[in-house]
Amino acid sequence: DLSALQGVERGSIKLAILTTVKYTVPKLLGRFCAVHPGIEVSMQVGNRELLLQRLAQNLDDLTIMGQPPEQLALVCEPFADNPLVLVAPPDHPLAGQRQIDPQRLQGLPFVLREPGSGTRLTSERFFANQGIAIKPRLELASNEAIKQTVAGGLGLAVLSAHTVVAELALGELVQLDVQGFPLIRRWYVVYPQGKRLSAAALAFKDWLYTHRSPERAGEHSAGAESGDA
Ligand code: PGA
Repeated sequence: DLSALQGVERGSIKLAILTTVKYTVPKLLGRFCAVHPGIEVSMQVGNRELLLQRLAQNLDDLTIMGQPPEQLALVCEPFADNPLVLVAPPDHPLAGQRQIDPQRLQGLPFVLREPGSGTRLTSERFFANQGIAIKPRLELASNEAIKQTVAGGLGLAVLSAHTVVAELALGELVQLDVQGFPLIRRWYVVYPQGKRLSAAALAFKDWLYTHRSPERAGEHSAGAESGDA
């Protein structure tokens, strides 16, 4: 049907994605745009708090974020796993040790994401559940900057595994084998309930699910994901 096809070949899509999603989805978006050059796309990158505010105001067509809170009426479809790992500089005393007891993190300096970050929320919940008080050394609203300060020896950090693929491969950072890690989070494609998605937005959503990496939501989860604030 030609008219349906034309509907997909034009139009615009407004996306909002998490800071941790920007390591994977923009590449998929690039390929989608190459195949659909007539579709205009805009994309906001922000933390959990920003995406929740944008959702409440219905500013975007599609949002890719962690577990949304239940008080908003949203459609949310599981998209991919987002494991959080504990990273350290390669010369850290805990590097290379097996099955580290989380209690050994007590009092160690950490570089933290800003409040409003889902990464921060999940790591704080883990430390609280374990009764561990880490030492907040520095707070940064950037995964990139955190990686650099950790590599520079300022402390440890909990980050999405998606953000540290290159640094782990290059040996600039190491992943610590602490019991309870990785912390299981998940990404969802989210939009307000009752919203009518445009043909362009639906086409992109289909593209996302068809072209996502083989690590699909649920296939690697060791345990249930805890609900979010
Ligand atoms: P954020 O994203 O830390 O940038 O908020 C991670 C998440 O919410 O899973």
